Amino acid sequence: MPEGTTTPLDVFEKVRKHERAEQLAAAKEQDVLPYFRLLESQAGPVVEMEGRETVMLGSNNYLGLTADKRVQQAARDALERYGTGVTGSRLLNGTTPLHVELERELAEWMQTEDTIVFTTGYQSNLGAISALLAPGDTIICDSGDHASILDGCKLSGARLRPFRHNRTDKLESMLSRAAEDESPTMVVVDGVFSMEGDVCDLPPIVELCQSYGARLMVDEAHGVGVLGERGAGACELFGLEDQVDLRMGTFSKSLASCGGFIAGSEEVIEYLRISSRSFIFSASAVPAATGAALGALRVIRSDGPELFARLLDNARYLRRGFRELGLSVVEPGKLQDGTETTTPVVPVIVGEDWQAVLLWSALFEAGVYTNVALHPAVPPGGALLRTSLMATHEKEHLDRALEIFSEVIERFPELPRT
Ligand SMILES: Cc1ncc(COP(=O)(O)O)c(C=O)c1O
Repeated sequence: MPEGTTTPLDVFEKVRKHERAEQLAAAKEQDVLPYFRLLESQAGPVVEMEGRETVMLGSNNYLGLTADKRVQQAARDALERYGTGVTGSRLLNGTTPLHVELERELAEWMQTEDTIVFTTGYQSNLGAISALLAPGDTIICDSGDHASILDGCKLSGARLRPFRHNRTDKLESMLSRAAEDESPTMVVVDGVFSMEGDVCDLPPIVELCQSYGARLMVDEAHGVGVLGERGAGACELFGLEDQVDLRMGTFSKSLASCGGFIAGSEEVIEYLRISSRSFIFSASAVPAATGAALGALRVIRSDGPELFARLLDNARYLRRGFRELGLSVVEPGKLQDGTETTTPVVPVIVGEDWQAVLLWSALFEAGVYTNVALHPAVPPGGALLRTSLMATHEKEHLDRALEIFSEVIERFPELPRT
């Protein structure tokens, strides 16, 4: 078709007329677009972005291990030994001894019989869910679950029954409908929800799954390397690791690399190795990524508790600082004994999308990077500035960020306050 012409049947029509086109064009024109900004240094607590020193409050490098000398050396060693890429799927020519060691050590850490390592966390969810579920089955998901879970559901052809975020009464009604359909069911929830940073209410979820005979999978992308004494995630924090059928984790956050895994019984993991399409039909990660993940895992297993404590202490400090500025923040939940379930994610509630973009831009100009979460990543009118902490943030970095927030929010009188 000649360039520039369209017909009513042109699939490219949505490129020009999608619902966010106008907003994006306006943000670009005013140079307030919060996406694709250039990071020009390592992903540390203070970074270089577009020529400016910037306090990084938008990284998932929770433990700061991308800069750890041991992790960097592990990546270098893997590069030297195996080269820049393996150019093949794990099933064929893409499995190195690093994968075998990583899968064994992850299983020890997660206290499961086995684990399987994928090239990304996204592919881990996609591959596991689509291989285990099929048309006629049911997947019940929390409405705040990550997109990779929903995409896995779609690919499986199973019936998707979402329930309202962290509402276990709604989960129960979905389980009872699936039972009426006599449909084999798996419930999938995030351990820590990526945008709001809250923790799933695991004890009643486990109980309900058991009483309805449903399988349970927990996405621990933001939980591993953060929660629990070993850092094995939300399931460990609740003491329910052995009650959850499958746990997923990524290397792209605390594990300072790129990749992902599923932990579970030997039987299921072996099945995923020969039936998971995103595992079989995609190349294995570059050796440096696998080496770095293994290096980071070893650091977490030796120095973890000190790093988790520093990280969560930083999260409490920043949340307290935001509260003192009168900002409205998403509050952490509580365990049954009343302890707060602090996570490294501390979101500031803004409300309206455009206001969130302008606030994001003013903060960025002043030297703080945050992540903006707009609809559809959050419900309409629920825009957030998602800040996230690292164990390597010093108090002086956080004080500098709070000072900048304090100056900038003066210009935003409509911002929700407490
Ligand atoms: C909850 C959750 N699950 C899965 C993923 C996908 O992981 P990855 O980025 O490693 O592909 C993410 C990443 O943002 C996530 O937040």
